[in-house]
Amino acid sequence: MHHRAANLGTETAFSVLARAAALADQGRNVINLGIGQPDFPTPEHIVEAGIKALRDGQHGYTPSKGIPALRQAVAESLHQSYQAEINPDHVQILPGGKVVMFFATQLLGEPGVEIIYPDPGFPIYASSIGFSGAKGIPYTLSEAKGFALNADDILSKINDRTRLIIINSPANPTGGVTPREEIEKLVRGLEAHPHVYLMSDEIYDKLVFDPAEMTSCLSFPEIRDRLIILNGWSKTYAMTGWRLGYGIWPESLIDIADRLAVNDHSCVNAAAQYAALAALTGPQDCVEDMRHAFQRRAKLIHQGLNDLDGVSCAAPLGAFYAFCNITGTGKPSSFWQNTLLEDHGVAVISGTSFGQMGEGYLRFSCANSDAAICEALARFQLALSQQ
Ligand SMILES: Cc1ncc(COP(=O)(O)O)c(C=O)c1O
Repeated sequence: MHHRAANLGTETAFSVLARAAALADQGRNVINLGIGQPDFPTPEHIVEAGIKALRDGQHGYTPSKGIPALRQAVAESLHQSYQAEINPDHVQILPGGKVVMFFATQLLGEPGVEIIYPDPGFPIYASSIGFSGAKGIPYTLSEAKGFALNADDILSKINDRTRLIIINSPANPTGGVTPREEIEKLVRGLEAHPHVYLMSDEIYDKLVFDPAEMTSCLSFPEIRDRLIILNGWSKTYAMTGWRLGYGIWPESLIDIADRLAVNDHSCVNAAAQYAALAALTGPQDCVEDMRHAFQRRAKLIHQGLNDLDGVSCAAPLGAFYAFCNITGTGKPSSFWQNTLLEDHGVAVISGTSFGQMGEGYLRFSCANSDAAICEALARFQLALSQQ
């Protein structure tokens, strides 16, 4: 085995999901607040478009970068959202947004190179950086700053070896949203470091509770020649299982990213691409409805957690997670992840799954019904009282 394979980490959410399912199979009542996927079905008109594509005979390979109409629709939707001018040739349709981070880290990372990433953050950043052979340099997202990134802190970590910076707003696992001034400061600061690429993971861009607070890096044309955007359909349209995502690549990387796709998966499932096209070009009220539901539940979880002894929670501003501080309980995160799941049937994720700075925190997903959330909070209260 390649020695760098030992650097591969994982996403604990998948093992917690498996354990929760195993407990449920044994007849236990398990509330799942662990998984990072919408609990809604994919909207009907999108499902119908996928079925229609299959009935219409869309059974073959598509162009490796994706069907032209879909790449065009992605460019148009981003123009509508952020007034960004995007050449559809720079849009790459991929089997999941996750593939963008894997491609970006493998194309830019190598031994001797440094890649700067958020901690706590999506665990696959650190994992795929390690696999590339590059050195991961974490930057801390702190509760005191609402888990927004701090541009000066990131800029201070840049040196000659830095090749890529990864940012994510709205953020998993914290629900933090970074204000425009801070992203602007980062972009301005990068002018002094032309050798550094920026990958902005904007997979939750349509799940900002105050949409006016969303800042896409696409709104800064000056960085476009070294900007990689990660986005997709999983969260916005409740399509995690379809495996669909897209990257917007700069001129310098699009051809090699396409070559990597040809080597890796040839193209994305054709019917799924037609469903994705219907998602972007059809009615958007389904997105609004889901955003409102997540916002309501985030408020419920946020208030409920703050009412518990030894627990506090910063207000989530986007995505569908609450990242609560449990240091007041005197027990580490892993203890609560295990106790809540094994003894109380509540699946949540230990903050340490998202990096060292996640110690002292638990991630609660809002992707469950109001009733399930209230029951989970009651069980957490019981668990606390038994300590
Ligand atoms: C921050 C972040 N980026 C990317 C992804 C990947 O999404 P997908 O590959 O399902 O499109 C996720 C999924 O959980 C995520 O939370």
